[in-house]
Amino acid sequence: MRHKRSDFPEAFLFGTATSAYQIEGHAFGGAGRTHWDDFAATPGNVVRAENGDRACDHYHRFAEDLDLVKAAGLDAYRFSISWARVLPEGTGTPNEEGLDYYDRLTDAMLERGLKPCATLYHWELPSALADKGGWRNRDIAAWFGEFTEIAMERLGDRMFSVAPINEPWCVAWLSHFMGGHAPGLRDVRAAARAMHHVLLAHGTAIQTMRGLGMSNLGGVFNLEWATPANGTPEAQAAAARYDAIYNRWFLGGVFKGAYPQAALDGLEPHLPEGWQDDFPTIQAPLDWCGLNYYTRKLIAPDATPFPSLKEVEGPLPKTFMDWEIYPQGLEDFLTRTAKEYTGDLPLYVTENGMASPDVLVDGAVKDPSRTAFLEDHLDAVQRAIAAGVPVSGYFIWSLLDNYEWALGYEKRFGLVHVDFETLERTAKSSYHELKAALQS
Ligand code: FCB
Repeated sequence: MRHKRSDFPEAFLFGTATSAYQIEGHAFGGAGRTHWDDFAATPGNVVRAENGDRACDHYHRFAEDLDLVKAAGLDAYRFSISWARVLPEGTGTPNEEGLDYYDRLTDAMLERGLKPCATLYHWELPSALADKGGWRNRDIAAWFGEFTEIAMERLGDRMFSVAPINEPWCVAWLSHFMGGHAPGLRDVRAAARAMHHVLLAHGTAIQTMRGLGMSNLGGVFNLEWATPANGTPEAQAAAARYDAIYNRWFLGGVFKGAYPQAALDGLEPHLPEGWQDDFPTIQAPLDWCGLNYYTRKLIAPDATPFPSLKEVEGPLPKTFMDWEIYPQGLEDFLTRTAKEYTGDLPLYVTENGMASPDVLVDGAVKDPSRTAFLEDHLDAVQRAIAAGVPVSGYFIWSLLDNYEWALGYEKRFGLVHVDFETLERTAKSSYHELKAALQS
């Protein structure tokens, strides 16, 4: 790797990120059923109908996995807490075995000198709450507050940082408008409600944690740069609509107490009554803002109902996800977010990484494309820092090859290869390069 730790500010944190359903093995330890189990059990939703029953079996192997985080020289570990593992029915009686597990996991991080950075919702909604309408039901804010309280009463004293919800766009739009993630709906009214309730739940959880005396609380937003597919005003307007729905809705709600007009144009008729009154909760002050960044999209207008746009294939080199590699978007988002939304608040890149078709040959995995991807994005982070943006850390997605949602186990994002037959872990060349960089 061409970077050294000493090229970054003194307190800059390097970490890696994972999520519960993608690695733990959800069939273990008394976890409740989730809408991802239901979604995966429905033909056509997930590659080979794979689910998170066993995943990487991190539930039983977390000590070995955290040893890998430590040995890489990383400072922090971003993980998530499964709602259905803590509360199998979503509300009510906690699963003590689940709480004990997160207790041990937290202590195992601290024993290794790793900063625990928790996310409270990384997509495995308990099925019992999905039955009640899930993110379409306003009550989800209170249900999520209850879960937050139970989880953080137990763990909050040892967290370095906590964010309520991973990637609100995926929770709301991808899952309720595009049908790509659980619950797999394609319904504009459901989507609009989820777009609002996800932020209401975020704010409720922040307030709950403040009530417990916690600090260093943030939000994690996934951002995708929208480039007009051509120079026409129509393409520019379509890209602006995409930007409004994908990026500005969530940042605008949390940091400005307002939704962008280009999104309201289509969504306002479908929002729940009284939505304007929820901003005091949605805007609960944060201590930092996390950006997950992977790619950009080329956007063209389309003769369909709102949002009347389509994605067009772009010319840049692509990852195994078919996502264009566009590091400039990371610099632009860091700069724009600070300038327009967050000011002096510390920014973290809470996810960045790529999928590649890595194969194990003679006990080793060579993934130079991942190293190059990370280098190019670290350059973008450095340019933002040089321009005065307060970027405080960078987390690589992901530690392990894992369950990549609707794409099953096919798309490998790990610094560490996982053999899904034997569950053996093998550090890839990118892991070794990162380790050398962090030591220098
Ligand atoms: C992000 C998700 C993460 C993983 C990566 C590739 O959107 O937060 O769980 O799927 O994409």
